[in-house]
Amino acid sequence: MAKRTIVTMPGDGIGKVVLDEAVRVLGAAGFNADYVHADIGWEFWCKEGDPFPERTQKLLEKHKIGLFGAITSKPKDKAEAELSPDLKGKGCVYYSPIVSMRQKYDLDICMRPCKTFKGNPLNFIRRGFGGVVEEPIIDTMIFRQNTEGLYGGVEWTNPPDLVYDALMTHKKFRDNFAWCPRPELAVSTRIFTKKYTTRIVKAAFEYAKAKGFDTVTVCEKPNVIRETSGMMLKVAQEMAKTEFPGIRVQDTNIDAQMMWLTKNPETYRVIVAGNMFGDIVSDGFAGLIGGLGFACSANIGPEIAVFEPTHGSAPKYAEFNPSIVNPIAMVLSACMMLDHIGETEISAKIQKAVADVVEEGKVKTYDMMKLPGKPDVFSKGAATTREMAEAIIAKLK
Ligand code: NAI
Ligand code: MG
Repeated sequence: MAKRTIVTMPGDGIGKVVLDEAVRVLGAAGFNADYVHADIGWEFWCKEGDPFPERTQKLLEKHKIGLFGAITSKPKDKAEAELSPDLKGKGCVYYSPIVSMRQKYDLDICMRPCKTFKGNPLNFIRRGFGGVVEEPIIDTMIFRQNTEGLYGGVEWTNPPDLVYDALMTHKKFRDNFAWCPRPELAVSTRIFTKKYTTRIVKAAFEYAKAKGFDTVTVCEKPNVIRETSGMMLKVAQEMAKTEFPGIRVQDTNIDAQMMWLTKNPETYRVIVAGNMFGDIVSDGFAGLIGGLGFACSANIGPEIAVFEPTHGSAPKYAEFNPSIVNPIAMVLSACMMLDHIGETEISAKIQKAVADVVEEGKVKTYDMMKLPGKPDVFSKGAATTREMAEAIIAKLK
């Protein structure tokens, strides 16, 4: 296969640490690529007033495939306070660069696989009938709409006249919210479009079909959030009827789903949800298979795709030297990248190496030992981030 160029965006905190390790694993597994570094994150917000600089955008537009570590986001007042003095008051507004990236490049299909590794001490266990301890094998793919909904960014505090007047045309608003003084009113919208709802639902169906699954679960709340959740459910039901006759739609509410995922998680193989509920349900499932140290993801658009662990920059561990965090989520995200560009053999090889390390159980990062994340974890037997990557590399041979 032709040599690829991968845009590496380490970002902040532990993003820098885990991305480096993932690139080393990729190299050891025989993936032949050039890597170009791209600036992103808090540092560039503070220095330049832009956490997602144009030069980084250009690199992504050129090379199409990105590996992303994690960024730090802070609330509005902190963002303003940490801005370099010469940029203060110049109208810079902080937006999370990963959210901006998803929107700018239509990275609307977010895939978050949650898969049990045999022998992982963090695997979910439950009490079965007669007190038997069961360890269900979970293998769920969550499709999260990545660009719309509650994360769409269309929101106001003290909404302007036009917005307020429009809200006042709605009976529910007049009846229930007109009492509130406008400066004390905050409104965040939840916008779903048919086009992007259809795209995410279709991605879920196509995946189910390719894997031979007979059910797609729509995890929303259509009984209450009638317009948006209702749209997703309807689109799915239509699609099942017209395009995927062998696949049925199961409809769960996000709140009930969060309860069921500890009861029978192994029965869910393909879940589709809007942006916020997809974020919630995928974190819930991730908790069953080892938590943030294992949760990987893909953001896929029509042209560009970016692969990242679900976790953030974990600032409290950023300065640990050597680093204690688990690189597996980042390594598995890199495997999703390999699958996306057709390097499925190398991906399978790395995934097998990860599985072997976890099953063998000799090398474990602090999270896998359920230790509090302190510098003394090594004296208790925890591996460093580097040692975990080395163990994976050793299994590749
Ligand atoms: P976080 O995911 O950074 O960390 C939460 C906790 O999870 C950590 O304290 C640690 O105990 C554990 N953890 C995370 N990654 C781990 C790993 N690889 N190995 C072992 N343990 C791990 O979330 P938090 O603390 O809520 O946010 C920190 C910063 O990250 C914030 O500024 C937030 O906005 C940002 N963030 C960025 C994301 C992204 O870049 N996509 C996603 C989530 C949060
Ligand atoms: Mg999340």
